[in-house]
Amino acid sequence: LRQKTPVRYDEARSCWDVFRYEDVHYILKNPKLFSSERGSGTLQGSILTMDPPRHTKMRNLVNKAFTPKAVKDLKNKIEEVTLYLLDQVNEKGTMDLVHNLAGPLPVIIIAELLGVPAKDRDLFKTYSDVLVAGAKDNSNEAFQRMAQKRKEGSEFIKEYFKKIILERKVNPEEDLISLLLAAKIDGEKLTEEEVLSFCVLLLVAGNETTTNLITNAVRYMTEDKNIQEQARTNLPLIPKLVEETLRFYPPIQAIGRVTKEQVKVGGKTIQKGEQVICWVASANRDEQKFAEPDRFTLERKLNPHLSFGFGIHFCLGAPLARLEAEVALVTLLSTFAKLEGVKGTELEAIPSPFVFGVKRLPL
Ligand code: HEM
Repeated sequence: LRQKTPVRYDEARSCWDVFRYEDVHYILKNPKLFSSERGSGTLQGSILTMDPPRHTKMRNLVNKAFTPKAVKDLKNKIEEVTLYLLDQVNEKGTMDLVHNLAGPLPVIIIAELLGVPAKDRDLFKTYSDVLVAGAKDNSNEAFQRMAQKRKEGSEFIKEYFKKIILERKVNPEEDLISLLLAAKIDGEKLTEEEVLSFCVLLLVAGNETTTNLITNAVRYMTEDKNIQEQARTNLPLIPKLVEETLRFYPPIQAIGRVTKEQVKVGGKTIQKGEQVICWVASANRDEQKFAEPDRFTLERKLNPHLSFGFGIHFCLGAPLARLEAEVALVTLLSTFAKLEGVKGTELEAIPSPFVFGVKRLPL
């Protein structure tokens, strides 16, 4: 596709697909030509679907909670939770990585950041999973069932957050919800609705993605003993392992935009108002950008993958996701002498064209 039809229109899905690194990069870098304002259900009204100038103001406001310094302060907490979760694993060390570690870790940390009481975490996880649940198969019924489940999950989470928002309005604490409630843009406070959509965005954008990053990295290490050995004997290589996993198995495979005027991409003319899908998973394997793109290696000096996007919408949670993955991987490698997949298990992919991960990873 990258070579023969790097930019193509798909009649069936009524959208343009873009496969080359250079073109994907160009689109993400140009919010004046390519808008993020697109109908996307749960995420409508969040910064992910906003254009400047509103996007710039909102983003500056929430940025504080995610600066590298703020995230570094969370390191101890992430280590503590990782050790706690691995303590629950049985004596033999057999587990399902998704269930035991990669699933709960990001949820617990985000719940902590937002100020969700510890007693509600299980409930919180169940409903945040529902928000991003995929369809079981490609049938119409499966899609309808998924849409219904998501709607119910979204209503529950919203009601739940509304209660916390009301509580924090009266009794502010040192959490993100209290910070958002106190913040002002151009002298105006955010509405409860805006605070609410930001909370929902963090759940949807941050949980499953980080779960898949951790799982994909461990999965790769079980498939390539050499890489596991290199990482195990040289733990400072772990940040490189995380970046290469992001490039090789991106948790989010594609990013959508809508054209704001007639544009040219890779020699094709696209009219105003068209949907454009930027295939990050393809851009990350573009031979024009990466040497030996289909080889997983810890030796890349630079790794400018696009798995966290690029430009003004670059993932706000990237420092947090990276840190969680690094802590999880270092702890796993230091705790267990060997990470090995259970023989004969067939891995089941998460059924979504935009998400890359597996439902379970028995180890
Ligand atoms: C934006 C990927 C983890 C919060 C994005 C975008 C991508 C992405 C591709 C850009 C979307 C676009 O340009 O339209 C990922 C991946 C993650 C991850 C692969 C894990 C490996 C997180 C975490 C959080 C988070 C942990 C927060 C707790 C956000 C937010 C945005 C965003 C708020 C919107 C930024 C904006 O619109 O300015 N993420 N993300 N993400 N991500 Fe992440």
